[in-house]
Amino acid sequence: MPNLLKKITVLEGDGIGPEVITQALRVFDRIGKKYHHKFIVSRHLIGAAAIDVTGDPLPDKTIDACLQGDAVLLGAIGDPRFDNDPNATVRPEQGLLRLRKELGLFANVRPVKLFEALSHLSVLKPHVLENVDMVIYRELTGGIYFGEKSRVGNVASDLCKYEAYEIDRIVHLAFAEAGRRRRKLCLIDKANVLDTSRLWRDRVNKIKVEYPEVEVNYLFVDNAAMQMILNPSQFDVIVTSNMFGDIISDEASILGGSLGMLPSSSAGSGTRLYEPVHGSYPQAAGKDIANPMASILSVEMMLRDYNLIEEADDVLAGVEYCIEHGLLTEDLNKENPLKCSEVGNHICNAILEKKVAPDFGVII
Ligand code: IPM
Ligand code: MG
Repeated sequence: MPNLLKKITVLEGDGIGPEVITQALRVFDRIGKKYHHKFIVSRHLIGAAAIDVTGDPLPDKTIDACLQGDAVLLGAIGDPRFDNDPNATVRPEQGLLRLRKELGLFANVRPVKLFEALSHLSVLKPHVLENVDMVIYRELTGGIYFGEKSRVGNVASDLCKYEAYEIDRIVHLAFAEAGRRRRKLCLIDKANVLDTSRLWRDRVNKIKVEYPEVEVNYLFVDNAAMQMILNPSQFDVIVTSNMFGDIISDEASILGGSLGMLPSSSAGSGTRLYEPVHGSYPQAAGKDIANPMASILSVEMMLRDYNLIEEADDVLAGVEYCIEHGLLTEDLNKENPLKCSEVGNHICNAILEKKVAPDFGVII
């Protein structure tokens, strides 16, 4: 009998998705073999890969598999064939957006923490990066991403709409997280211009009385974009709407040296989804050069959510081992880069196997 049995729905997606997910699955396999867990993996199509086979970026079979699984692990979505065609009516990204909606994944959690051994690689000065440790709570199923859209000739519109309940549920999660951390919450909005942002402020003001230990501050998104570079260690927990969270989290990723280091988890009422923050990086697809760490750290997040702390710490230690020894892909090591699969090898080897149990691990 395994200690833990989980059904993981794997959606490799497009571009470098299959390569980075392959490494993430090897890490799962090691953890399973070491700690006697079974992860039953089923692979399904999403994005451009799904359009090519079925004409649909999110086939019903994929949704069903996600709903039936215990967790979803996703690679990346996107393909230049569609990016460069503004008139395409079917797009890979629609698959991801629909999946988030179907699974009710309203809270996207994006931790940004710095590995000290990487700080010299940052474009920012080392003193700016001291003590950077934040987590971004990005609303994921509302706002301008999902509002009514229209395009009539040269006139187009995307509606940005929020209802109080959509704000409240993620704000509560963000306050709770702040309570477990340094007790600081920052709402990023554009309340000087947008009504939706004024609603976010209202809700945060109402909810904050339930969390008196948490200090709240507010930043307009333009100022926040500047503060993120000027003084990033001021942030502890950030809560923000869908679009602002998308932008601010890409910006925050450069603090850690590479977008290839940032994992994420998305939570709703049921099945959670784990995915790297980076995109499909089509120029690198098939070359075995992409950084697998964001996907591997997404596995770490999943293990923590399952309360498998020792297992998660092992994964993190494997990543730290590679960083400390410069065993890095070309985004972080220009002189002597390792392949994606080589980084995967090192992380797997670093997850020490006291006793390998061949019956456990990943079962496909
Ligand atoms: C992300 C991505 C997606 C988003 C794209 C691929 C639709 O940029 O997860 O941050 O905008 O949400
Ligand atoms: Mg993004």
